Amino acid sequence: MLKTINTDKFEFLDDKGSFKIGRAEDTSYLYFPIAGEKGLKSSVTPNLGGDAMVNQETFLLEPVSVENLHNNKNGRNFWLYMDNGSVWSAVGTSAEQESKKFTMEQDESLVSAGFMWHTATRANSSFGVLAEITSFVPVDFNVEVMSVTIKNIDHQTKVITPIAAIPIFGRSADNLRDHRNVTSMLHRISTIEDGVTVKPTMSFDEKGHRLNNKTYFVIGYDENGNKPESFFPTVESFIGEGGSFSKPRSVYRQEAGCSAGENFAGLEAVGGLKFAKATLKPKEEIVYTVLIGVAEDEAEFEAAKKKLASKDDVEKSLEATKKYWSDKVNVAFHTGNKEFDEFMAWVAFQPFLRRVYGCSFLPYHDYGRGGRGWRDLWQDCLALLFMEPDDVRKMLVANFGGVRMDGTNATIIGDGLGNFIADRNGIARVWMDHAYWPLKTLLLYIHQSGDYEILKEKVPYFKDSIVHRGNLIDKKFETEGNHQYSEDGKVYEGSIIEHLLVQNLCAFYEVGEHNTLKLRGADWNDALDMASHNGESVAFSYAYAGNLKDLSILIQEYAMNTGIDTVSIASELNILLDSYVQIYESVTEKTELLNNYCKLVEGDISGKQISIPVSTLVSKLMEMSEWFTEHLNKQEWISGDEGQGWFNSYYDDSCRRVECYDSDDKKTRMMLTGQVFAIMGNVATDEQIEYISKAADRYLYKEEIGGYRLNTDFHELKGDLGRMFGFAYGEKENGAVFSHMAVMYSNALYRRGFAKEGYKALNALSEASMNFNVSHMYPGIPEYFDAKGRGKYPYLTGAASWYLLTMITEVFGVKGEAGNLVLAPALLKEQFDEAGEAKISLNFADKRFDIVYANSSKLQHGTYKIKAASLNDGQLAFDETKVTISRDVIDNLPKHNSIIVTLG
Ligand code: G1P
Repeated sequence: MLKTINTDKFEFLDDKGSFKIGRAEDTSYLYFPIAGEKGLKSSVTPNLGGDAMVNQETFLLEPVSVENLHNNKNGRNFWLYMDNGSVWSAVGTSAEQESKKFTMEQDESLVSAGFMWHTATRANSSFGVLAEITSFVPVDFNVEVMSVTIKNIDHQTKVITPIAAIPIFGRSADNLRDHRNVTSMLHRISTIEDGVTVKPTMSFDEKGHRLNNKTYFVIGYDENGNKPESFFPTVESFIGEGGSFSKPRSVYRQEAGCSAGENFAGLEAVGGLKFAKATLKPKEEIVYTVLIGVAEDEAEFEAAKKKLASKDDVEKSLEATKKYWSDKVNVAFHTGNKEFDEFMAWVAFQPFLRRVYGCSFLPYHDYGRGGRGWRDLWQDCLALLFMEPDDVRKMLVANFGGVRMDGTNATIIGDGLGNFIADRNGIARVWMDHAYWPLKTLLLYIHQSGDYEILKEKVPYFKDSIVHRGNLIDKKFETEGNHQYSEDGKVYEGSIIEHLLVQNLCAFYEVGEHNTLKLRGADWNDALDMASHNGESVAFSYAYAGNLKDLSILIQEYAMNTGIDTVSIASELNILLDSYVQIYESVTEKTELLNNYCKLVEGDISGKQISIPVSTLVSKLMEMSEWFTEHLNKQEWISGDEGQGWFNSYYDDSCRRVECYDSDDKKTRMMLTGQVFAIMGNVATDEQIEYISKAADRYLYKEEIGGYRLNTDFHELKGDLGRMFGFAYGEKENGAVFSHMAVMYSNALYRRGFAKEGYKALNALSEASMNFNVSHMYPGIPEYFDAKGRGKYPYLTGAASWYLLTMITEVFGVKGEAGNLVLAPALLKEQFDEAGEAKISLNFADKRFDIVYANSSKLQHGTYKIKAASLNDGQLAFDETKVTISRDVIDNLPKHNSIIVTLG
C-alpha cells in the first residue's frame, strides 16, 4: 500500500514545504531536525536513529556523527512481539529486517515531514502490521514525543506485545570517548509507574565534577492511559548477555522485565517499556505515546507529564507545534515553479534551525560545542530581520558590545544577549573578515526600519588579555567584566557609528606586502588558516573597500535624517582619520600608524571625545575607499582568454599571488570569493563583471552539482595557505559548490544589475538541492554539494539567510530604503507562473503585504517596465523601474495589504 509513493521525488502535502517520500531508508545520511524552544533538539533518521540533546553536557541519546547513522543499532525503537512468536521492529531495525534489505521482502516505508515534525510509516504484509511513528518536540518542553500507531492490516486478528526501547545516554557528549564507562557508574536508574528515569549522581566535564540534578526519562502509556506493565531499564537487562540492540534478548525471549519501584546503579540505561498484550482485529489500530525527555527538577518533570498526559494532549500539542513553526516562517513565494516555492519554505525555515542548533548538534555538524561564531551571529540576523524583527534592534545593539577597541572582536559567544566571553586559554585567532559583517547587517536593518537613531546608541567595548589585534597577549590588560575602561575608572561607551569606524578603519590599515589586507587566522573561508604571517585576503580587501564607501554614505544619510553635523568619537581614533593618500600607499607607514593606534588603546583609554564634522568624515572615508578601489583594480586583475578575466583573491604565506591564468585550463587557478566581493564591493566595473561571469562559467560552473564551485583544482597541497588543500578536491572549502559563497555571488550580481547571471547561480543551487536522486537530501539548501552532487551538512548554513535575502530584496526587489518600502523586481520571464504572475507575501514595518507582479505578456527582465501599481485598490506613484511607498503611508495602513504591480 505504500508502494505507490515516489521514492525519487518529493510529493508536497501543502504550501509550507511538508512532503513525503517513499523508502527514505534506502538513502544514506538522511536525517531530519525536530526541536523546541526550550533547549531540546533532536535529529531523526528514517529508521529513527539520530540523537537528542539540550547542550554539549546534556545528551539524552548517544551523540552521533553521520557515519553512526548507518552503523549504530541503538536508536529509538518500538518492538512488536507477535502472537505467533515473530518479532518486528516498527522502526525497521531488527536483525531480520536488516537482512531483508534490498530484497523483495523489505518493508514498505515512507517518511513524511514538515517544520519540526517527522512521521515514519512502515508496513510489512507478511507480519500484517503497519506502524506510523510521529516525532516532535513541543515548543515549551524538553520532551521528544514519539506517537506510535500500530494498525492491523491483515485479515486475521493479531495479538501484539509492544516494547518501546530508547537507550538513554544521560551525560555529556564528551563522555562518548572520554570515560564512557566510568561515567556509566554515575547513573542511578529507577523504574517508576510510567517508565524509567536516570539521574546521574554527578557530571564530569571540562568544568570539573559537579553534583547533578537533572533527570532523564522515558515514559509511556497507551491510548487508554494504561501504563507499561514492566520495564527493562538497563542495557544488560534489555539486550541480555550476548544480545544486541538489533536482536535484544528480552524481546525475542519474551522476558518478563522488572516492575516499577526498582533501582539500579552504575549501568548503561535503557528506557525499555513493555506494554500489555493488545488484540487488534483487522483494520483496528492502537496508539502508544512515548515521551523521551530531561528535566532540571521534579517540578519540570511533573509539568511535562501533565502537559502530555493523554493521546488527546499529544495531538493538541502536535498541532500547536506545527502551527508555531509554520507561523514563524512568514515569508511565502509564488513563482512559476511550485517545487521551487516549496524549497523556499525550507530555506526560510533554516535560519530558525540555526538559531536553535547553532553550528553544532546535527550529525554532519559533529564539531563545536553548540556556540555560534561571530560571523554567523551577524548573518543569521539577516533573515530574522524579516521574520522575527521585534527583538532585532536590541540584538544588534548588544552584539556591538563584542567589538574590541582595536577593531577585532570576542570570538566566544555566550548565551543571552551581548554575552561575550574571554578565551580562558588566551588563544588569539583573528579572522580578518569579522569586522566586515556588522555594517552589512546594520545597513539592512536601517533600510528596513529607517531607524538612523540606532547609530547614536552607546555601547561598551569588549576587553580581555588579547590586544594589538591579537598580536599581544598579556593578563595585565584584562579588566573587570571584560569591558574597556577609561582612565577615570568608568566603563567606556561609544556610539555604534564609532564601533563601525573602529572596525573598518583598523582593517584598512592592516596590510601585507602587496598593500592588501592581511589574511591573519583566516577570512570567511575558515580553512584558509595556514598563512597568518604573510598571507593576504584580497577578497576581503574588495569587501572592505566597499564597506568604507557604504559607511561614508551611511554617515551622510544619518546626518540628513537626524540633523546632526558632527560625530563624536574617542580621541584616540583621530590618528586613523588623520591620514592621507601618501600614507595609504605605504605599507610601512600604514603598519606604523596602526601600531600607534593599538598602543593607545591597549590599556584604559583617555575617555576624551573629539567632535568631527560630518563632511570631513564622509569625504575621508570616501577618499580611502576610492584609493583602495583603484589600487586593487589596478593591481589584482587577471586577464584570461579573450573576453574573460577575474580578480585575484589571495596571497599565500610565501607572498605569492594565488590565482593565475594559463592557456592550459588545468593550470589555471581561479577562486570564487574574490569575484564575489570585487563585484559586491564595487571594485569590479560593469565590463569586468561580464568578463568575470564568463570566466566563472568556464572554470567554476558545473550545473549538475549546484553550479559555481569555490575554486578550481589546485592539484597541490598548499601548506602555505590553508587546510582546505588537505581536503579532497570537491569537498567543503576545497572546490565544493559551497552554497553560501555561491548565493553571495548571485546576490552581488543582482545588486549590480546582472539579474540573468544572478539567477543562474540561484537556480543551479535550488535545482541541485531538489534533485533527490543526486543530492540525496530532504528539501532545503545544504552547506555544500560534493563533487558528485550530494548535498552535505544540510540545514545549518548561512547560505539560507543569504538565499532568502536575495530572493526578497533582489529577485522580488522588495526592500527598505531609509524606512520606505521599495519594489523593484528583477524577476526573469521563467519565474512568472502561467498567468504571468509572481507573488510574495511578507511583513514590512509591522504590516502584512501580499505583493503581486503581473506580467501577462511574459516579457523578459530588461524589457518590461512598471506600467501601473496599486495598493489596496488605490493607485500608487511609480517610475519605470520601481515603486516607492513612504513610511508615513505604511504607518497608516491596515494590518493586511495587497499590492499589485503591473509590468508591460
Ligand atoms: C560555514 C561556517 C561559516 C564559514 C564557512 C566557510 O558556512 O558556518 O562561518 O564562513 O563555513 O568556512 P555556512 O555553511 O554556515 O554558511
